[in-house]
Amino acid sequence: MQIQELKLLNFRNYEKVQVAFHKHLNIIYGKNGSGKTNLVEAIYVLALSRSFKQNSDKTLIRNDTDLTKIEGTILSNYKNVYKVILTPEGKKVKIDNNKITKISDYISKINVILFNPSDLRMIKDTPSIRRKYLNIAISQLNVEYLKQLNQYNKLIKTRNIYLKQMYLNGNSLQSYLDIITEKLVEVGISIYTIRKDYIDFINSFIQEIYKKITMKGDLKVIYCSDYANKSKEELLKFYKKNLSKDLAFGKTNFGVHHDDLDFKLDNLSLKDYGSEGQQKNAVISWKLSEIEIIKKEKKVTPILILDDLFSELDVEKIENIFKFINKDIQTFITTTEIEKVEPLLKGEEFKKIYVENGNLKEM
Ligand SMILES: Nc1ncnc2c1ncn2[C@@H]1O[C@H](COP(=O)(O)OP(=O)(O)OP(=O)(O)O)[C@@H](O)[C@H]1O
Ligand SMILES: [Mg+2]
Repeated sequence: MQIQELKLLNFRNYEKVQVAFHKHLNIIYGKNGSGKTNLVEAIYVLALSRSFKQNSDKTLIRNDTDLTKIEGTILSNYKNVYKVILTPEGKKVKIDNNKITKISDYISKINVILFNPSDLRMIKDTPSIRRKYLNIAISQLNVEYLKQLNQYNKLIKTRNIYLKQMYLNGNSLQSYLDIITEKLVEVGISIYTIRKDYIDFINSFIQEIYKKITMKGDLKVIYCSDYANKSKEELLKFYKKNLSKDLAFGKTNFGVHHDDLDFKLDNLSLKDYGSEGQQKNAVISWKLSEIEIIKKEKKVTPILILDDLFSELDVEKIENIFKFINKDIQTFITTTEIEKVEPLLKGEEFKKIYVENGNLKEM
């Protein structure tokens, strides 16, 4: 899969630009604040209809304007033109000028794997952030998964409201709670199974990839879930036994909404023991594992974006990472230090794009 051309209108610090990309490797360089991340963010938004950054969609619209348009020509089995149009009121997505009404029918069509320094949060931050990363990764493969996740979240909401009611007026029906709980367990088991299979899949790649980058250390990802190794009957019993706790808290204390991931390097949690570089290499290994999974499951090669990969990594690690970027993966690399990156790409064909103040120069 590759993006051949990108057109931006009023996207962040870009007013109106059009750029053609190299089918293999694109190096985007320029000073801090020039618009490098913004450019690759546009490719990400084109694919997923929203940013990887936490701030709202509105910040994507160039200041003092009220509409942004991202348009990209994507070549996969077919060639299609994708469009995302954002206004403060909402967003529209189109494929070949046909409006797609359900966003879930749009995303998962363009596969993009992006690394950005903020992804270290995947290790350092809270479980909810790790679940978010996991959910985005799985939803690129499995559209049904998002639907189940929505259903589960609705059930949790309903159950929590009912628990509060039961607590306040003790005469509420236990049988209604039982119906919600049973449905919750069924959907929860399904989410647990999809997540477990996905982490198993990740683990079948990540150890080897990490080792190839760093030359030492055993990395694996542990999936931590309340639902681990429990049958439906055991789970139902558990909810029954802990009802008084749920009633006292007015919420569901147990379930896949508490799932977490633990990155272990040589059996120590990277969150507590890992260096910045080790954490970074672990996240990159996760992303490269995602690529392998998409290749296997969807028979397409995603677009790879490495935003600001080079800070904190030594040359040896960078060279090892480059070994994974073979000719069939279209790759985007942003850097402030072109003179450091270029010598590492000896023999490779690539395109250099210079960014200055929201202007692009193809070199
Ligand atoms: N909605 C917006 N409208 C106008 N300008 C914006 C908007 N959002 C961000 N910017 C500007 O974009 C610039 C940042 O661009 P970007 O993050 O792409 O820089 P960068 O080249 O990646 O820099 P670095 O090397 O520091 O990572 C800032 O100057 C910021 O003010
Ligand atoms: Mg940047």
